[in-house]
Amino acid sequence: MTTPDAPIGVFDSGLGGLSVLDAMRERLPNESMVYIADSGYAPYGEKTDAFIRERSKAIADWLVGRGAKMIVVACNTATTHAIGHLRATQSIPIVGVEPGIKPAALSTASGVVGVLATAATLRSDRLRALIAAHQARSQFVCQAGHGLVEQIEQGNLAGAIVDDLLLRYLTPMAGAGADTVILGSTHFALLVPTIRRLFGNRFNLIETGSAIARRVEVLLNENKLTADAAENAATEAQARSRVEYFSSAQSAQQREALLAVVRRLPTM
Ligand code: SIN
Repeated sequence: MTTPDAPIGVFDSGLGGLSVLDAMRERLPNESMVYIADSGYAPYGEKTDAFIRERSKAIADWLVGRGAKMIVVACNTATTHAIGHLRATQSIPIVGVEPGIKPAALSTASGVVGVLATAATLRSDRLRALIAAHQARSQFVCQAGHGLVEQIEQGNLAGAIVDDLLLRYLTPMAGAGADTVILGSTHFALLVPTIRRLFGNRFNLIETGSAIARRVEVLLNENKLTADAAENAATEAQARSRVEYFSSAQSAQQREALLAVVRRLPTM
């Protein structure tokens, strides 16, 4: 039996989910959170569907074992391949992330939308169905972001390699007339400042962190699981410090990359 003072479990294949965690901390400062980066097994986007499901299940079980009252799958690839299985096997609310196909289709003026996601997300039935549902009003230019997750996992959110990859992936989208780009991996949301430096305001960038934070807030209320502010933290500073971070990374450099990104995010 879970209680409102239990933490929310948040996981990703690595550091990408920190973009979602950041939005959640901003919106829900009284909530305790446990974040796990499965960096030892990233990138999920290049793995088989069965592998992604197995890792997601193992992490969800671990979070439930730590008493999580809700799990946020802050990973597009894990959401597309594992969320059904997690919902069927866990008894707490499970929230996933989804590429913002609908908001992009509604907001594009040129009618052309770029989708930058992992190979696994791009081949998923869910993404194909979403695109099919909005294809009548928009054209979608899809691109797998090979190599980007590996760079981010080393803490490289900018630099020559990241710049080259982004130029290679996004320049053809601009050439096709895209005015909107969906960042279909939570990892890629960490690259927004670099994309802005390279492309200025050429694209409206769609990421889902704040939408997920709103969804979590609604679900906490509906399930009567919202943390009691007074009980959990006397000061805002205390509230903001109640996040525990875990990583499956073997290398010290990767574990340090997690903390470096945590320090760089605005609300951390
Ligand atoms: C990856 O591990 O390949 C990235 C996962 C994602 O956010 O889709």
